[in-house]
Amino acid sequence: MFTISQETPDDWWEVESLYDLCFAPGRDALSSYRLRDDVRPVKGLCLVARDDQGVIAGAIRHWPVRICPEGDDSHCFRALLLGPVAVHPTHQGEGLGGLLIYQTLGGARALGWERVMLVGDAPYYSRFGFSKLADVVMPPPTNPDRVLGLALYPGAWGGVAGQVSKWSPDMALPQA
Ligand SMILES: CC(C)(COP(=O)(O)OP(=O)(O)OC[C@H]1O[C@@H](n2cnc3c(N)ncnc32)[C@H](O)[C@@H]1OP(=O)(O)O)[C@@H](O)C(=O)NCCC(=O)NCCS
Repeated sequence: MFTISQETPDDWWEVESLYDLCFAPGRDALSSYRLRDDVRPVKGLCLVARDDQGVIAGAIRHWPVRICPEGDDSHCFRALLLGPVAVHPTHQGEGLGGLLIYQTLGGARALGWERVMLVGDAPYYSRFGFSKLADVVMPPPTNPDRVLGLALYPGAWGGVAGQVSKWSPDMALPQA
């Protein structure tokens, strides 16, 4: 049995330790981390799962990003960047990763977000409906085959193309 709750500031370093355990060393050198620097994760879409001893078993965070047409910063689309998501090795394969992803995708819809993207393994994320985003470019170095998206509303990725950029405080967050 897991208890899932919103991440609080007190959870931050425990979640970071879980990510260190689950990802290869140097995870924060990945280009997706540059999109997170100095940007707050999305409130309500960062969850922590604990086992019945209170030990952290899994965690997920989401960040806001912009997707801007080449050379045009004034007509950007907003999107959620899902991740990191990780489950402690002793609990992998028990469905917790899927639970955290489904729960936050539902939360994202309820908050009014239209689209979610991530950099990850298509064989895993396709089960949630993610597929390759051919027209969306992550900062290098990123394997384009790992840039995946999911529309939270039908057609939400239609016409969305360009470079993924750091969130700008000028952009409006969605209204639920
Ligand atoms: C990826 C991760 C979050 C999945 O969490 P989980 O709780 O183990 O996943 P679930 O129990 O919901 O699903 C397990 C299924 O996903 C599959 N799966 C897990 N990781 C996968 C991957 N990278 N590629 C393809 N399939 C994968 C398992 O084989 C299993 O398949 P099955 O349902 O056919 O048996 C977890 O394995 C993890 O923390 N991995 C290390 C960190 C990581 O890679 N995070 C994702 C970044 S892309």
